[in-house]
Amino acid sequence: MLNERDVLAEVVKRALRHVDAGTTDSADAPYRHPTWTYTDPELFEQEKVKIFKESPQMVGFSCDLPGPGSFTTFDDLGVPVLLVRDNDGKVNAYLNACPHRGARLKEGCGKANSISCPYHAWGFDLKGKLRTIFKEDSFGRVDKSYYDLVRLPVEEKYGVIYVGLDPDMKFSIDGHLGDLAPYFAMWNLDDMSFVNMHEFHMNTNWKLALDTFCEGYHFGPLHKDSVGDYTMGNLSLYDRFGPERRHHRMTFVNVTIAGLKEIPVEQWTTSVFDHFAFVHFIYPNISLLVSPNAVEFFQLYPGATVGEHLTRYRCYWRGDLNRPSEGLDPQSHFRFIRDVVDKEDYWVSANVQKSLNANIKPYNTFGKNEPSLIDMHKTFLRAVGRTPVEAPLEKVGAD
Ligand code: FES
Ligand SMILES: [Fe+2]
Repeated sequence: MLNERDVLAEVVKRALRHVDAGTTDSADAPYRHPTWTYTDPELFEQEKVKIFKESPQMVGFSCDLPGPGSFTTFDDLGVPVLLVRDNDGKVNAYLNACPHRGARLKEGCGKANSISCPYHAWGFDLKGKLRTIFKEDSFGRVDKSYYDLVRLPVEEKYGVIYVGLDPDMKFSIDGHLGDLAPYFAMWNLDDMSFVNMHEFHMNTNWKLALDTFCEGYHFGPLHKDSVGDYTMGNLSLYDRFGPERRHHRMTFVNVTIAGLKEIPVEQWTTSVFDHFAFVHFIYPNISLLVSPNAVEFFQLYPGATVGEHLTRYRCYWRGDLNRPSEGLDPQSHFRFIRDVVDKEDYWVSANVQKSLNANIKPYNTFGKNEPSLIDMHKTFLRAVGRTPVEAPLEKVGAD
């Protein structure tokens, strides 16, 4: 088990070295990234299969299914999914389609003692077993064991719920997260309360939206009236985790961190976390912000076309919603984050998409100070079987 105080102290030490030196975690060199990756319909179709359908999906947290009978549904990748916590407390994932003739079994989220199909009233228990066939005598005898709900692979661990969208997919949360898993254990994500949710339906490629979560270079200019006000733009820590180092964590630092230089290291407590935030990228489509009071869960999904996507933002409060937290109101916090993303990050990414749709400019350039973008996009290209092409660096600036 990681010691949270030690983990946070190491982060502060690294950050303070950058503060003193005026530096940031960096890649070796700038990287020219081909812009067709945001506009190409063929690549987009490959991504939906190789990146999304073949990866386990982080779909929520334990508190989204608070007790026996609680259920929730989603359809984000074209597979209708019904998640149900059964009477043993175990989370089950089913295809949200009736084995009789395919009707959707549940909408939204809620609580139920059993699952009754709205079409012809077949009844299933919370473990997906077919229990009753409406007017069975006239329907005719069938072997009920063939008509249980179709199960999808699911695991709940560290307060996180993952689902596979193929019944035959094999995965484990530990295998997927790799060396990021101990950090998930450390965050106590099973002790959170849901605050609020917002969906962004954008005319933006899903990767372009994701890019805005992956560097702090833009904090000063783009967020000058919001987070740029209290963060040290262009100073971030970058760490990679998991199989093939596909996940990463950015640490974005507040200007107040410099004050810790005046306090002996032995006196640092977990309260040093007041001076920075972690923004994780969890392959393939999650941005997870962890700060002392809240967890922001962003799920990004491909839209109907290459230039569209959906982001679902769910805000959670760490611990009790009513826990006193020095005047920080959970709903105000949610609105602040939602509006920063909406009016600043996603405003600019929609603008970028418009310019890329013209297909005139062949490359964007990621700076040394944007290392996670370089690695993340190479990972995406490799996932669809393409070799990232290093554009000659001497041409940087000559697009
Ligand atoms: S489709 Fe569900 S009972 Fe007929
Ligand atoms: Fe931003």
